[in-house]
Amino acid sequence: MALVRSVVLVVLALCAHPAMADETHGLEPTGTWDMQPVGTAPTPPMGWNSWNAFHLDLTEAGLIASAQVLVDGGFAALGYRTVNIDDGWWLKRRQGDGRLQVRTNVFPDAALAGGETSLRPWTDRLHAMGLKAGIYTDVGRNACSQAWSSDPATLPQGTRDEREVGLAGHVEQDIALYFATWNFDYIKVDGCGIAHYGADRHHVANGTFRALAPLINDTDPGQDDIPATRARYAEVRDALWRVRPRGDFVLSLCNWGTANVRDWGRQVGTMWRTSGDIDPTWGRMLHNFDSVATREFYAGPGHWNDPDMLEVGNGAFDGAHLTEARAHMALWAIEAAPLIIGTDLAAAPPAIRAILANPEVIAVDQDPAGHQGVIAYADDEREIVVKTLSVRGTKAVLLFNRLDEPTTIILTAQHLKMADSTPIALRDLTMRRDMGTMTSMRRFALAPHEALLLRAVGTPRLTHGWYLAELPGRIAVAADGIVVPQPDPTIHRMIDSHTGDTTGFGPRPTYYGWGAPRTDATVFSETLTLAGQPLRDGIGVEANSRLQLRAEGAFAHFAARVGVDDSTRGRKAGVRFEVWGDGHLLAKSAEQHFGVPPADISADITGVKVVELVARQVGADDGPVLATWGEARVD
Ligand code: GAL
Repeated sequence: MALVRSVVLVVLALCAHPAMADETHGLEPTGTWDMQPVGTAPTPPMGWNSWNAFHLDLTEAGLIASAQVLVDGGFAALGYRTVNIDDGWWLKRRQGDGRLQVRTNVFPDAALAGGETSLRPWTDRLHAMGLKAGIYTDVGRNACSQAWSSDPATLPQGTRDEREVGLAGHVEQDIALYFATWNFDYIKVDGCGIAHYGADRHHVANGTFRALAPLINDTDPGQDDIPATRARYAEVRDALWRVRPRGDFVLSLCNWGTANVRDWGRQVGTMWRTSGDIDPTWGRMLHNFDSVATREFYAGPGHWNDPDMLEVGNGAFDGAHLTEARAHMALWAIEAAPLIIGTDLAAAPPAIRAILANPEVIAVDQDPAGHQGVIAYADDEREIVVKTLSVRGTKAVLLFNRLDEPTTIILTAQHLKMADSTPIALRDLTMRRDMGTMTSMRRFALAPHEALLLRAVGTPRLTHGWYLAELPGRIAVAADGIVVPQPDPTIHRMIDSHTGDTTGFGPRPTYYGWGAPRTDATVFSETLTLAGQPLRDGIGVEANSRLQLRAEGAFAHFAARVGVDDSTRGRKAGVRFEVWGDGHLLAKSAEQHFGVPPADISADITGVKVVELVARQVGADDGPVLATWGEARVD
């Protein structure tokens, strides 16, 4: 009896906040929206971070100089409010009580009487400037700098135990220190401690650090321990909810797109990295951009894909490369990416400041509907990405030339899902000038590396309602149907910045996501096709998947043409398509099969808060079964 009672108490405790209940990925509809926010970020977080600007060479003066520009240069008023300290702030973990000590040669104001250190003066100073404060830690025992840097002046000091500055074993204590005592607002939690401290590493074998069997494998994603990685981060999330029960925090997960974080990031963090570190080169920026570009159904208000911090102002995006700097900014804005400035703002030339502070580009990123852009056209050279904005009939569209030669891009009304017989008004948001109108199509000449970010105002192709593919921020992938996670092969592979040479194999695909639901394409990037008929619009899924639509009573009807896609791998199984409303079955199709004409399915969704679309596999298992919600729409 006592055991039963304590189990019940534990379950109740775990359910204290919706985000703390442990999440399942079942096929059965729950009637409950799957994307309860973790912390608070109704629009993508904005701010500044020290890493891309200074790496480990931190000084309080350097940080304050950028913070001051945020205020004086009008950046804070535009939304760039959080000043994040990255790696390098810590000195040691005091033995005895385990309290983290601050590096006072970096933060002189952190030195208190009696030898104690505190970052409270730092956060008080930022808060007094009208800013917010972000801190950095690692989910393991040790940090990234300790694995990669050999400069002792910038690294934690002392005995092996004193140098264990990461969260492992101290989650409650450290989170309480950072958020209750020191009053931070935002935390970035890195993952090197669970990736780079295996017993075979030189710095572990020689006794410098304690071994921690890696949960993340930096070369072979197939060996990632997905549940254990997720559990470590979930522990941090739960501690944050305890210290900040009103949700006034941002939790930024930094495990570089590994361990299938694509799939669980929204339940554990406010934002999650989708790739390895950006650096200020064109190829690496493309890589990081591609790592979010097909993940539109995973982001939305309160939870964001993070392709990493901006390099605008640095290297290939500095004042001598304004085309590239503008493109980088436009790419992040169309993807509703967090906008975290990563340059020394005090030293940034006016043209770079103007790119970062362009209110029309920021407005695209921060649009309250929170839809990520979706790919409307892509080849290896050119891309068209379209983002639905909150005002009906208004979209942002990015025309992007990836190559270092000029090119031409033809934008059509079809790409925008707008009527092709009425004018569409265009405005160049980067250059802040109107560009007249187009009707069915318009041709644009693009310079090498140019991205044109346009706002298009026209008549929606659907007189009433929306294609679901236009509303990715209202959709959650509750179950993706993927049996074995596979790395995504469509992400640009840049020259390996660690070696730069060709002695190895070159970068291999490493981020899971291949096979996940897609807009206007099958899960494997093919044309949606049902019984020989290609479809321009729809959502491609694998069978045994469940999508949720946050309808909130805004729609009356759902309709789609459904079937097993012609490009399915498994051809033998059937698929039954079901539409659920708030946990009740509203409509279902007959069992669909490969090559059979699509079925029409529709449902009355008046007053429904959560619509769930289930594609249920029936029978044989001879490979992934690709199911198509063709022309899925609501009005
Ligand atoms: C990396 C992280 C970077 C930066 C760095 C600090 O793992 O992705 O953004 O925080 O560690 O050492």
